[in-house]
Amino acid sequence: MAKTKRRYICQACGSVAHRWQGQCGDCAEWNTLVEDAPATVFSQKHDLSSGGRPVEFVKLDAPGEELKRRPTGLAEFDRALGGGLVPGSAILMGGDPGIGKSTLLLQAAAKIAKAGGETVYVSGEEAAGQVRLRAARLGLADAPLKLAAATSVRDILTTLGTMEPPALLVIDSIQTMHSDTIEGAPGTVSQVRGCAFELIRYAKENGVAMVLVGHVTKDGSIAGPRVLEHMVDVVMSFEGERSHQYRILRALKNRFGAVDEIGVFAMAGAGLEEVANPSMLFLSGRDEPLAGSAVFPALEGTRPVLIEVQALIVRLQSGATPRRAVVGWDGGRLAMLLAVLESRCGLNFSSAEVYLNVAGGYRLTDPAADLAVAAALVSALSDRALPRNSVWFGEVSLAGEVRPVAHSSLRLREAAKLGFAKGFGPADAKANSPDLNYQEVKQLANLVDRVVKQD
Ligand code: TYD
Ligand code: MG
Repeated sequence: MAKTKRRYICQACGSVAHRWQGQCGDCAEWNTLVEDAPATVFSQKHDLSSGGRPVEFVKLDAPGEELKRRPTGLAEFDRALGGGLVPGSAILMGGDPGIGKSTLLLQAAAKIAKAGGETVYVSGEEAAGQVRLRAARLGLADAPLKLAAATSVRDILTTLGTMEPPALLVIDSIQTMHSDTIEGAPGTVSQVRGCAFELIRYAKENGVAMVLVGHVTKDGSIAGPRVLEHMVDVVMSFEGERSHQYRILRALKNRFGAVDEIGVFAMAGAGLEEVANPSMLFLSGRDEPLAGSAVFPALEGTRPVLIEVQALIVRLQSGATPRRAVVGWDGGRLAMLLAVLESRCGLNFSSAEVYLNVAGGYRLTDPAADLAVAAALVSALSDRALPRNSVWFGEVSLAGEVRPVAHSSLRLREAAKLGFAKGFGPADAKANSPDLNYQEVKQLANLVDRVVKQD
């Protein structure tokens, strides 16, 4: 006999609890448990070892279908996807509200439609009129794409069932979809998961490339349980600061390609423009070197991007707890670097407020940025500018050593190409560039000596 049991699912990590509690026992987030559709628990164990059909095994090198990709025509989008949309794949696109997800997808859908591919754009958030207005503003009103405002998965799938499967299906957003076979309001874990499941099944069975737009929670993960990320083939995130112009499209997971290439866009009056050469975007373009600013030679996939890291240190007179604020970098990593600078180099940040900013709304994740951040901090603390036209890279260990990182010589070569004259980084046999003066920084203490005692 089957009996039903209440269960609660954490919206942040997807773990299941049988009792409601204020804090998730697994990820320690507060107020994230939501009642899920009742699970059926069988009191008798079923024997699954007989009665099934045999599963066929195949060889790894057995001839199969070749992966065909359909370029969207937006080169930066294709680059982040690893070469284009794969038919029958599901892509989850996350990003803060207002960052430009709907704009990007409308532009991509219009491009495909203009190139002769059938595209369906289902908007659950905006009325068709609103999307049409936006398309007019983007100069895409003549694109032959099929637009609908709908939120019922049954309606959507029924309609799609009566037509030729499109090349691209956009669902904007998965949190607004609902299925009448599932209990709960749209946006709850069971609805999001159930709707995604049905839509993905349709996409796979019909060879349709589908993009699901997903909202992002405060801490940056895509809302709804993590299972959504497991269900799709590609997870992309559209990032940037809303107040800045630049947007970065990044694949966090990709079953069909590498995840290290990014797409770079600029939000302009007429939608998102592609930025084919982003190397200089995240520099401030100032001539005179300024205390607290360091340039980090980042690599995004195969493309070099030079990024300015800015630090500001404000000494406090009173005994108030000093603030540490970071934009574009990890706060925990900043705390670690400050601790290393204090304990290994004898610097004192304890009574000072520390602000760190990565220029242009860029988000740094490469550990090689440690040395550039440290250089900006030391430069700000000592109020001395770093050498003119210099770049800094290297990972800093807890012992205060500067460790080698990947692609040193590529970073230096690209910096030299862009007019930088000096590079500071780890002792690394591969790190040298004929066009650039490379100086090894083995210990953070060497950096401090160099900055504080330079003349
Ligand atoms: P939108 O695509 O609606 O964001 P999302 O779907 O991620 O929530 O983007 C909305 C923002 O983009 C809005 O604040 C205005 C800006 N924008 C422009 O600057 N130029 C444009 O041409 C368009 C269409 C939007
Ligand atoms: Mg939107």
